[in-house]
Amino acid sequence: MAEKITLTRPDDWHLHVRTGEILKAVLPHTARQFARAIIMPNLAPPVSTVDRALRYRSEIIQAIPEDRHFTPLMTLYLTDATSCEEMAKAAQSEHIHACKLYPAGATTNSDAGVSHVSRIYPVLEAMQKLDLPLLIHGETTDSDHDIFDREKIFIDRTLSEIVKTFPGLRIVVEHVTTREAVQFVQAASANIAATITPQHLLYNRNALLAGGIRPHHYCLPIIKRECHRQALVAAAISGNPKFFLGTDSAPHLQQRKESACGCAGCYTAHAALELYCEVFDRANALHRLEGFASHYGADFYRLPRNRETITLRKNTWQVPAHYCVGTDRLIPLQAGERLHWQLSLQHDRL
Ligand code: NCD
Ligand code: ZN
Repeated sequence: MAEKITLTRPDDWHLHVRTGEILKAVLPHTARQFARAIIMPNLAPPVSTVDRALRYRSEIIQAIPEDRHFTPLMTLYLTDATSCEEMAKAAQSEHIHACKLYPAGATTNSDAGVSHVSRIYPVLEAMQKLDLPLLIHGETTDSDHDIFDREKIFIDRTLSEIVKTFPGLRIVVEHVTTREAVQFVQAASANIAATITPQHLLYNRNALLAGGIRPHHYCLPIIKRECHRQALVAAAISGNPKFFLGTDSAPHLQQRKESACGCAGCYTAHAALELYCEVFDRANALHRLEGFASHYGADFYRLPRNRETITLRKNTWQVPAHYCVGTDRLIPLQAGERLHWQLSLQHDRL
């Protein structure tokens, strides 16, 4: 039984850090583990231009603890009004690494998202030419569609069309949650990849709804049946470079989660790597964690792999019941529960 594991320092390829007080509270959690993170642009108003992304980047940099090296990798939020000129500007910027497609109404702060994907086909064409990756929240928004089927319907009707129409476009299907999504990505060409969150690897929908409703397990896409969780674990531990780490850590204050109409999003940045380590250990696949967490994402984004290492030790510890954000609270995933791996704090150079 391994008692410790040393990895190339990982990156988080899907992260929400918000702004203001929340940003200051959550960024140190990410920066203690990850060297870089793809920063989601779903602020209100959205980060839909290069200028706004650069301003947001400066705010994030201000929030990095002094003793940490951390690089935010910025993305742009696509709207019906996004222009091909803005894409050219984005491709020129060393700080913009991708654009995010939110179908309008699919999730938190997606109202300004794309109403019909065909509207942005000229923009996708430009992105394909410029080799700018497209990140997709892959769910339909039709209120007639069952919430548990929205990812599958999106893949069948919209994603397949995008992939066919733009065969050279690099695409990340974000936070995949179903067996069908895993199979789609596996069967697609090498320019199609996916991120997987810790909550979708750890839980099935019973963790959300059985024995009482647990709002801190509510995120979008919603957690699915056990057979889907198993397909996600199999993909994550497979060593297939198309699948890599993206926490989708999505902080919302306690009262916004514990409400008659609670926000979607799990806060996982406090123990992201430890949560993934738990999953890989249970599946006897710790030897596959480094590829998933530290290599495949960087390779896909054509960025150098990190040169530092981090070490996790086998040690049982208790996740805090909450973190403070001013006078408010943030409830982390697995609050008050025990985890069996813990990050050592020093970062060693290779
Ligand atoms: C995210 C958020 O809160 O910004 N919520 C979530 O449930 N994952 C948005 C998203 O990635 O869908
Ligand atoms: Zn997200």
